[in-house]
Amino acid sequence: MAIRNIVKEGDPILTKVCRPVEKFDEKLAALIEDMYETMDNGEGVGLAGPQVGILRRVFVIDIGEGRLEFVNPKITKTSGVQEGSEGCLSCPGEFGITKRPMYVTAVAQNRYGDQFTINAEGLLAKAICHENDHLDGILFKEHVIRKIDPVNNPSDKHNKKK
Ligand code: NI
Repeated sequence: MAIRNIVKEGDPILTKVCRPVEKFDEKLAALIEDMYETMDNGEGVGLAGPQVGILRRVFVIDIGEGRLEFVNPKITKTSGVQEGSEGCLSCPGEFGITKRPMYVTAVAQNRYGDQFTINAEGLLAKAICHENDHLDGILFKEHVIRKIDPVNNPSDKHNKKK
C-alpha cells in the first residue's frame, strides 16, 4: 500500500469524464487500498480515481462508519435537500455551503465485480454525490451556493474534505 499524490484543482485531469473499470484484478485492488490510505492520510471522507490521476470510475468513502468502495457507480434515485459545508482534498483550504440531495440510492460494484445497492442519507448521501461528480469532471464548487471561511467554523464537524 502507498499514499498517492493528490491531484489539485487546476490540473485538467480533474475535468475529464472517467471511463468504466473493466478489469477487476489485483491492480484495481491495489488502487483501492492506496485510495483508502491516501484518503485517511489527508483526513478526507472520500476520494475519487481522478484525484490520484486515474481516469476510471472508482471512488472510496469513509464518513467514520467504515470503508466503502464504489466501482462503476450509478446514482439511481435522489430525494430531499440538504444544505451544509463541503470541501475537497483537491481544493485545500476551500469550503462552501452546497445544496445536495438528502437521500441517495446508488448501485455499484466492489473490487471483485459484485454489484450492490446502497441507500444513503445525510453526510453519506452528500459524499456519494461529491465523489460521483468527480468521475464526470465536476468539482463541488459547482454546487456551492455560499462560500464560507473555515477559520470561522472550526467546530463544524461536517467541514470535511472529500
Ligand atoms: Ni473532492
